[in-house]
Amino acid sequence: TWTSVNIVDEQVEKIRAEVGDARVICGLSGGVDSAVAAALVQRAIGDQLTCVFVDHGLLREGEAEQVEQDFVAATGVDLKVVDAAERFLGHLAGVADPEEKRKIIGREFIRVFEQAEREVVEAAPEGQPVRFLVQGTLYPDVVESGGGEGAANIKSHHNVGGLPEDLEFGLIEPLRTLFKDEVREVGRQLGLPAGIVNRHPFPGPGLAIRIVGAVDADRLRILRAADAIVREETTAAGLDAEIWQFPVVLLADVRSVGVQGDGRTYGHPIVLRPVTSEDAMTADWGRLPYDVLEQISTRITNEVDEVNRVVLDVTSKPPGTIEWE
Ligand code: XMP
Repeated sequence: TWTSVNIVDEQVEKIRAEVGDARVICGLSGGVDSAVAAALVQRAIGDQLTCVFVDHGLLREGEAEQVEQDFVAATGVDLKVVDAAERFLGHLAGVADPEEKRKIIGREFIRVFEQAEREVVEAAPEGQPVRFLVQGTLYPDVVESGGGEGAANIKSHHNVGGLPEDLEFGLIEPLRTLFKDEVREVGRQLGLPAGIVNRHPFPGPGLAIRIVGAVDADRLRILRAADAIVREETTAAGLDAEIWQFPVVLLADVRSVGVQGDGRTYGHPIVLRPVTSEDAMTADWGRLPYDVLEQISTRITNEVDEVNRVVLDVTSKPPGTIEWE
């Protein structure tokens, strides 16, 4: 019978047998899949594993720290962090087209990750070459490769075929038979922090595709502040498990007139996009309680200076998509 304890034991044994004395690399995205996969491999082979976290600077408030501090504290994993925020911002400067943003982020991500891989390979001790790459592929990814969360970047670009010829690794995919809720259960079993285990799906290109318009540091700061308020309030209201995903979107090129205190304001709208879904292929807009919406709206307009209007997206998918870009 399926239990998370059985899965952990079974996978630990299998990974040990397969890896032997070799070294292993795992990319972390901040998402639940790559975190659980890494924790499982860490449980099996300890310090033969090196994790690589490319911080593209497009994550939400606190998420990079969650990987760099909480995940490391919970697992003791050897983590290599690459702070590439400025590089990504530089390449994204002035780019408003959604697909162009995705292309740039995907391309730069591969470059930065491959460079980090090379450094890990070069730093490996004599007689302990890096031979394997861990991927957080789930059962539904095996059946069909559709939208996903942050790990999707690593998934689609770092399969064996896509690796440069001088870096050939075997793949370790310890979650291949599991569904998302089972992965979360395994993560809990491995002692991962709730913030990681319960994280909603999040797109690889991150907040860049939640800023409608060009991305810059100031716009990221505004969106991050609004998004953090939304997450605080939905978590406090106990709504996380009901909501599939809750994109918060900054309409950076739109301004509207408002009034606050004695003065006229000319600020940006924030769009709330809570959705319910089974698999992200179709979705419905989430019917959040009015008092939660009110609290979110009041806090965002009070606490984030540049925002003077909060609107609710009541479109299902189709015809809308979950993300605005
Ligand atoms: P849409 O917006 O197409 O999103 O309804 C469906 C699911 O896919 C996620 N998504 C992405 N994930 N890279 C990703 O890794 C992307 O470029 C991307 N675009 C959308 C979205 O968050 C939702 O879960």
